Amino acid sequence: MNATLKVRVWRGDAAGAFREYEVPRRESQTVLDVVSHIQRALDPTLAYRFACRVGMCGSCAMTVNGAPRWTCRTHVDRVARGGRLEVAPLRNLPVIRDLVADMREFFDKWARAGGQFKGDRSRHDEFARVSPQSEKRGLADAGIECIGCAVCYSACDVVARNPDYLGPAALNRAWTLVNDERDAGNADRLRAVAGDAGCLSCHTHMSCTERCPKALSPTAGIAGLKRAVAVAALRGEL
Ligand code: SF4
Ligand code: SF4
Ligand code: FES
Repeated sequence: MNATLKVRVWRGDAAGAFREYEVPRRESQTVLDVVSHIQRALDPTLAYRFACRVGMCGSCAMTVNGAPRWTCRTHVDRVARGGRLEVAPLRNLPVIRDLVADMREFFDKWARAGGQFKGDRSRHDEFARVSPQSEKRGLADAGIECIGCAVCYSACDVVARNPDYLGPAALNRAWTLVNDERDAGNADRLRAVAGDAGCLSCHTHMSCTERCPKALSPTAGIAGLKRAVAVAALRGEL
């Protein structure tokens, strides 16, 4: 193991440049540990984002040696090439500064995809019961552990070509709600994901599924949305 890691880090906004730092190697060191060392010991002006450090909050994603990753759970041993690391902000999102990407458009798209639960019961109604064995519950559960990290969004070439495309995470969220038996908002939701910027634009490249750190498959959810949209269109519901 090299005693020192050479780390190129993006500095500035979209017109910025990489700056190189030397960081001591440590056992079980994560990429987030490396970035934190730079900020705490070498350059306190470095901007980056993290919160939980244990793979729950989704805030620490960055581009590491060219690929989007959650940095708090990515060990340097797995990604450093020849003792070198390159760390940049997530692709497909505006850069605010250094390693901090602007997440507003990413989360606005969740709303545009109908990502809010729409119930039709009041507190006076009977409590909804959904069997853990039901097929729809299984489909919803398969996508529900999304942490909103935007790794999939950054990996998606369709987002890169069409900035209006809702993207894998927002569509995955829509799919979990389409399968939520308590939700009453599917007519609007299917209309929202059926447009040019919706599920039909997905080219099934599967980069989102390959990169998702939670091992979710937005590709499968988007395929489910395509089927649901087709059925709704045939029924004249769109
Ligand atoms: S499967 Fe669809 S959403 Fe996922 S990366 Fe490919 S084009 Fe993007
Ligand atoms: S689907 Fe996976 S990669 Fe995409 S935001 Fe959710 S957890 Fe992150
Ligand atoms: S810091 Fe929360 S997921 Fe990495």
